[in-house]
Amino acid sequence: MRRKFIAGNWKMNTTRAEGVALATAVANGVGTQADVEVAVCPPSVYLAAVGEALAGSAVGLGAQNCYHEAKGAFTGEVSPAMLVDVGCKYVILGHSERRATFKETSADVNRKVVAALAAQLTPIVCVGETLDERKANRTKAVVREQLEGSLGLLTAEQVVKLVIAYEPVWAIGTGVVATTEQAEEVHADLRKLLETRYTSQVAASVRIQYGGSVNAENAASLLSQPNIDGALVGGASLKAEGFLAIVAAARK
Ligand code: 13P
Repeated sequence: MRRKFIAGNWKMNTTRAEGVALATAVANGVGTQADVEVAVCPPSVYLAAVGEALAGSAVGLGAQNCYHEAKGAFTGEVSPAMLVDVGCKYVILGHSERRATFKETSADVNRKVVAALAAQLTPIVCVGETLDERKANRTKAVVREQLEGSLGLLTAEQVVKLVIAYEPVWAIGTGVVATTEQAEEVHADLRKLLETRYTSQVAASVRIQYGGSVNAENAASLLSQPNIDGALVGGASLKAEGFLAIVAAARK
């Protein structure tokens, strides 16, 4: 059984005080209940403070990015070991905003995934097509290319340790959520790809989250699908009540 996994990607939002208050409210709401896996991913400068607010709860801490090198002359970058050092368990990698705005390629994402795994972090590897790509019937090819490029030469032992997030770019921050059918179709394709590249056991154990305009209203329907194992939530993760409602939907 794949345990449902709800993660909040706060992106570049909140002040330190707001982040601590939000994390405290999420931690209080989730408590020590671990039937659904829950994580919040604040801006990196607030990781330590948010981690303190989460202490004693079942809510994990995640980062939104990292660099693939362990240390050295890489001004402005943060290593996987540094993230572990401040209490992170997860790191989001290859988010479409990083791919589009910061020109990260799937090869870059792969280097980061390898480094994150080596540091014992759980990577949340994002893939997703743009609206133009969907309209051109290229969704399957695009997510396939992104997944294959991002996984690279990972072994089965490595792949079972990561989480995949399908985030159609046209659904991110737009309020236009993918229909449950659209999401489930891509999730099933991604799982099939894992089966082809690895084994049916690997495919059956890797969690695939959906992301893109997930909220308290649409979460239950998405999470009812056989291949949708959780959600990577942006905007709706910035309010504790809405985020906790999504966690509650995953419990059903
Ligand atoms: P929204 O939930 O705001 O659409 O963002 C989704 C996302 O990008 C999560 O990583």
